This record gives sequence, structure tokens and C-alpha cells, in this order.
Amino acid sequence: MSRPFVDSTGASGDAGLTSAQQARRTPPPDETRRALTTAATDLPRGRSPRVPSRADIAQPRSEAMPSRAAVQSANRVWRELHHAACAPYRAAGRFAWHFARGKLGHDPVFRALLQRGDVPAQARLLDIGCGQGLLASLLVAAQDVHARGEWPAAWADAPVGVRYTGIDLMARDIARAEQAASQLPGAPRFVQADMCSAELPGSDVVVILDVLHYVDIAAQDAVLARVRDALRPNGRLLLRIGDAADRHRFAASQWVDRIVTLTRGHRVAPTFGRPLEAWIGALQGLGFAVRSVPMSRGTPFANVLLIADSREQRA
Ligand SMILES: C[S@@+](CC[C@H](N)C(=O)[O-])C[C@H]1O[C@@H](n2cnc3c(N)ncnc32)[C@H](O)[C@@H]1O
Repeated sequence: MSRPFVDSTGASGDAGLTSAQQARRTPPPDETRRALTTAATDLPRGRSPRVPSRADIAQPRSEAMPSRAAVQSANRVWRELHHAACAPYRAAGRFAWHFARGKLGHDPVFRALLQRGDVPAQARLLDIGCGQGLLASLLVAAQDVHARGEWPAAWADAPVGVRYTGIDLMARDIARAEQAASQLPGAPRFVQADMCSAELPGSDVVVILDVLHYVDIAAQDAVLARVRDALRPNGRLLLRIGDAADRHRFAASQWVDRIVTLTRGHRVAPTFGRPLEAWIGALQGLGFAVRSVPMSRGTPFANVLLIADSREQRA
């Protein structure tokens, strides 16, 4: 079940588009380009990053279809990005490489972050629960593609010059991340730490993808409050959660999570979810302006990306 774009006020719009992109709305053909961008955001399941068919691209009948060339160009760039972002993981072993290929290829959030422009250029980015650091590798690949002048015109601005720090509880993941990062320019930094107690560096963007459910609700709230405090003025939290109100799809994600946790050699512990509305309420209570975008297309999950912007201007 895919939900429409819902912001914290309940207003609906184009799923997958940032508010800046929506603000720039103009009649076709630009509209058409954005429809393509939105649709290609969510990768369907497949063996490798599959090229979306026209049937995957939902748009009103009144709008013209995007050009075939634009579709093909963006998909070609994504295949390049996927290949380049996975390559450093060969140095971290077969598991790390196959995991990178599967995760980057099938999880819609990675491509979405790039084409939506959720990470601004030059951002100091903190990735909490970074796992083996896939986002760091993808950001480096994005910078390379941009430097070659191949960034898709239909996508938002490329996240160039990002200064990346990842933290994760698991030593094994941090070791894989560091092995892969040794192949990368830009010196992404990795720290083994518990998000519940780690010092969080001052950041422009904090990314938390599928992590908070590992700790109870009080601990989740405490992490979110510390993230708010770590964010610079006009900072942004990109938080992906599972919507516990969507019971069956949420349960599916929990089962897959347990299997992946075991496969990665970690202990399976209880998890803690809450409905989308409760997540939004918690973030608003911390002073964030929140938008939500469905982020599980092509998967059986109830995942939602919350884009939470700091409203406070802190010194
Ligand atoms: C489902 S994985 C997601 C990894 C990564 N964010 C991604 O999307 O590819 C969840 C990650 O959260 C990490 N994690 C769980 N509890 C944590 C904690 N208390 N502090 C830091 N990391 C934690 C796990 O070790 C794991 O790498």
C-alpha cells in the first residue's frame, strides 16, 4: 500500500518531491521530467537495479509521458552509481560486496536521497546506524559522476563535498565500512559507538535509516532530542521508519530485519515501532517541521522517509 505524500499538516502533494522541487513546479515538459524523477525514486524488486518500466511511473493522464531518452539517461547514471558505490566493498570481502549490491540495488531510499536532493552540497553529514557505510560510498560515487558532468538533469543538485561521519554499534560493520572507505577519497570517518550514549558531532544533516526501532520508545525520543541539539541552524534530519499502523507490512519488515540481523552475524533483539502519526508528533514536539514520503516501493514494507527540518535558529 503506498500512501500519498503527506506533510505534517496533512497536505498532499507529489510523493518523492522535495518542497523546493514542488515550489519550482511549472507546466510540462518540466512537470513531466519531475514525474519521471519521482517514479524512478522507488526501485522495484529485481536482480540488479532494474530499469523502471513505464507502468512503474504513476502520473495523471493529462500529463505527457517523460521522454524515453530522459528515462534511459537517469537509469544509466543510477546503474553507474550502483556499480561504483559497490566496488570498494570487494576489499571488505564477499559478504560485504554482495550485501552492498543487494541493499543499494533493491532499497529505494538510496537513489531517492540523490535524485530528490535531500542532502545539500558541502553538508556535514552524520549517519547514525551506518552499517557498513553504504551511503558514504554512494556519496563519493555521486561526486565523481557530477565531476564528469554526467549528473542527470532531471535530478536535484548533486550532493558534492559532503563531509561524512558514520557511527554504528557493531564492530564488524565498522570494520567493513573502514575497509571499503580505505578505497575512497574524501576520508569518510567511521566510529564504533552506541547512538544512545555517543557524542553526536555538530551536523547539517543527520541520517537515520532503519535504526531507531532497535531501542525502546524512551531511548528513541532521547536520541531524537540529541540529534535536534546536534543539528546546526537550518539542519535536517532524514529519518526512515516503519509505519507500525500498517500492521502487516510493518510485520514483514520486522521479519526481514531479524533474518538480515542474523545473516550479518548479530544477535536478534526485540524491536520497537510506532505509527507514522506518532513519529511525526514526536518530531514536531522537538520543533521540527516534518514531511513524509513513502519509501518502500518495490518492497513489501511500510517504510516512510521523514524529512524533518530544524525550525529553530540556534547560535
Ligand atoms: C537495518 S541496519 C541499517 C543500516 C544502514 N542505516 C542502512 O540503511 O544501510 C541497522 C543498523 O543500526 C545499527 N544499530 C543498532 N542499534 C544501534 C545503536 N544503539 N547505536 C548505533 N547503531 C545501532 C546496527 O548495527 C545496524 O548496522
